[in-house]
Amino acid sequence: SQRTLVLLKPDAVSRGLIGEIVGRVERKAGWRITALELRTLDRATLETHYAEHVGRPFYEPLLEFMASGPSVAMVVEGERVIEGLRALAGPTDPIAAAPGSIRGDFGTVVRENLIHASDSEESAERELKIFFPELPR
Ligand code: GTP
Ligand code: MG
Repeated sequence: SQRTLVLLKPDAVSRGLIGEIVGRVERKAGWRITALELRTLDRATLETHYAEHVGRPFYEPLLEFMASGPSVAMVVEGERVIEGLRALAGPTDPIAAAPGSIRGDFGTVVRENLIHASDSEESAERELKIFFPELPR
């Protein structure tokens, strides 16, 4: 089985969508939430997490938004959970996301798209080390 890092971004928390989104993850048969924490992400953490986007025009506004209030960081484990959570989230751009996906149901603009989920096994291991360094691996 796999594990993945999920972030409920500051827009999800400020709009009162923690329960709605965590509920969708919990209800998925075979998946388990094994860590969960409300946390305001600091600049150093965000720079490491989003290193691949340095220099893109959306990078600075993205970091500013991600540091603007508390996020929920969680670890989800289960069969093919990496692919599964990306599907549950929907495409990056909420306008392109189908109804039924989290971004399709609640997303407004591309920057404030509610949720992050690791996009591969390599990303998941890298990101879990950043957000939950104390986890056994
Ligand atoms: P994450 O799960 O947050 O990593 O989203 P993603 O994998 O679907 O997208 P990606 O890693 O490409 O981009 C990271 C985040 O940067 C996105 O979730 C958006 O919040 C933001 N972002 C990406 N592309 C754009 C863009 O073209 N414009 C703006 N404003 N924001 C973007
Ligand atoms: Mg990404």
